Amino acid sequence: MKPAILVARAVFPEVLERLSQHFDVESNQDDVLYTPDQLVARLQGKAGVMSTSSSRFDAELLARLPDLKIVANMAVGYDNIDVAACTAHGVMASNTPDVLNETTADFGWALLMATARRITESEHWLRAGKWQKWRYDYFLGADLHGSTLGIIGMGRIGQAIARRSMGFDMRVIYHNRSRLGEQQEAHANNARYVGKEELLRTADHVVLVLPYSAESRHTIGAAELDMMKPGATLVNLARGGIVDDVALIAALKAKKIAAAGLDVFENEPKFHPDFLGLDNVVLTPHIASASTPTRKAMTNRAADNLIAALDSKQRPPNLLNPEAFR
Ligand code: 8YV
Repeated sequence: MKPAILVARAVFPEVLERLSQHFDVESNQDDVLYTPDQLVARLQGKAGVMSTSSSRFDAELLARLPDLKIVANMAVGYDNIDVAACTAHGVMASNTPDVLNETTADFGWALLMATARRITESEHWLRAGKWQKWRYDYFLGADLHGSTLGIIGMGRIGQAIARRSMGFDMRVIYHNRSRLGEQQEAHANNARYVGKEELLRTADHVVLVLPYSAESRHTIGAAELDMMKPGATLVNLARGGIVDDVALIAALKAKKIAAAGLDVFENEPKFHPDFLGLDNVVLTPHIASASTPTRKAMTNRAADNLIAALDSKQRPPNLLNPEAFR
């Protein structure tokens, strides 16, 4: 008998097809957002689940899932999973690193450029029929080339963003839990390790790519926004909650910084409505990894982890808690 799994959200049909060769699959192609109780009900008798950031797996939920052996998250970030609680319940947890680095870094640049050069703001203005003439000072923005890029969170995606800055002749400074090796710094456009305050005071553009945790919550709040240059831009590609959105809205209203580009929000998909009234913010709905090949690769990577854990009984390639592998 094949092990039973739940694919908790809609996915590419070809991946369901692949999974069905190994498992008895319950899918959710209608993409219903299950409540925790619905998730628990659907996971009875299931050995595995393919999840996304929108489902929380905490101690309380795991205690109600006696049959579960693996939570395979279809995301690199796994702040929705209490990994220690998984380990305590003997449940493996996995994520999908690496396959999204370059696509996410591309998007970081798209968001940074749209923000610094006011692309969406000017397009909205044009679409509203306001373009009557050319003026020397319409939509003046900040330059990317020759400026200083500050990256907070210099993991694989941060380094991919830094590499792209070579073509713009930028200086890169970064802040991270630990300093990179010399060679890694050299590959990341000779990135220079600095303290958070120096980064915020020096950078013309600040990009956030660090994982969310209790410690990284509100890495950027009112005090940090005060340190930034008045013409600076801020881009958040990481997770909602890394930035204090209320403080950011106040800073954008007061023009303490020039503009922000946000792909993630506190409490998304609900977000603070005041963002909508601001011209100096570019808003996108958590799409940094959304290229067709990359989303397919992420889904297949989550499938690889399920197949390894439950079918071939091998260590999943992206296991987050090796203690839970037996
Ligand atoms: C996902 C992400 O699309 O990988 C991550 O951590 O934030 C995105 O790439 C999203 O979280 C879906 O689970």
